[in-house]
Amino acid sequence: MILIKLGGSIITNKEKPLSPRISTIDKISKQLKKIHEPMILVHGGGSFGHYWSVKYDMHTKPDRYSLHGVSIVKNSMIQLDKIILDLLIKNKLNPYCLPPTDFMDGNRPITKKIKEISKIAQSGLVPVSYGDALWYGAKKSYILSGDKIMSILAKILRPRLSIFVLNVDGLYSDFKTKRLVHEMDGDQVSIEDIPMDVTGGMKRKVEEATRISKMGLDVFFVNGNKPERITNAIKGKFEGTMFRGA
Ligand code: IPE
Repeated sequence: MILIKLGGSIITNKEKPLSPRISTIDKISKQLKKIHEPMILVHGGGSFGHYWSVKYDMHTKPDRYSLHGVSIVKNSMIQLDKIILDLLIKNKLNPYCLPPTDFMDGNRPITKKIKEISKIAQSGLVPVSYGDALWYGAKKSYILSGDKIMSILAKILRPRLSIFVLNVDGLYSDFKTKRLVHEMDGDQVSIEDIPMDVTGGMKRKVEEATRISKMGLDVFFVNGNKPERITNAIKGKFEGTMFRGA
């Protein structure tokens, strides 16, 4: 089982609201078609959900956020998800749309539902989930990031490889010279030193990747602009940043 997160920065143009990167998603889909192994996809919000969640000041902590914000974020994620599903279908994959409400109860994962996702993937369908605004209870909502979904799924399903598809080559030890970290073994880069982008992107990814690798599972960061690197990684050839399962 392979778990793949398509980051918002690779599937959308983060500089411009509501702008999908159609040709990039198409090229990535063509590579995914070459994977002959059960896989689950998760995608981020980028200039769709992420853009609106920032605009409406919504965060991962459950709170009484704008109700209109909740609706708008959810709606924009459906819009982006539809674009991705259409491109996967165009490339002859069989995506199975799986909004996170299908396997989350408030902010608690529903183990039974998540185990069923593995069966769906084993059938040849490709479950596709995404970060979203979710109802928490007691008039509160929260943002569930796609990165968080990765560790929720990894914990229960124990994929042989979890891949984060990014808009950069991987994790840089020096953000000015773009020196790539090939293998992350704990203390080469301290999480505090990673600059937060507008959406807190890289820092949260490294946190979730570290969490997953501590479960004893391999995690790999790869550049989606070089989509053949995704299929190479699945074959064991790694060009990016590897977080070895400890
Ligand atoms: C999007 O998920 C969550 C929303 C704001 C709807 P992510 O937080 O994983 O998105 P990216 O990949 O960083 O854009």
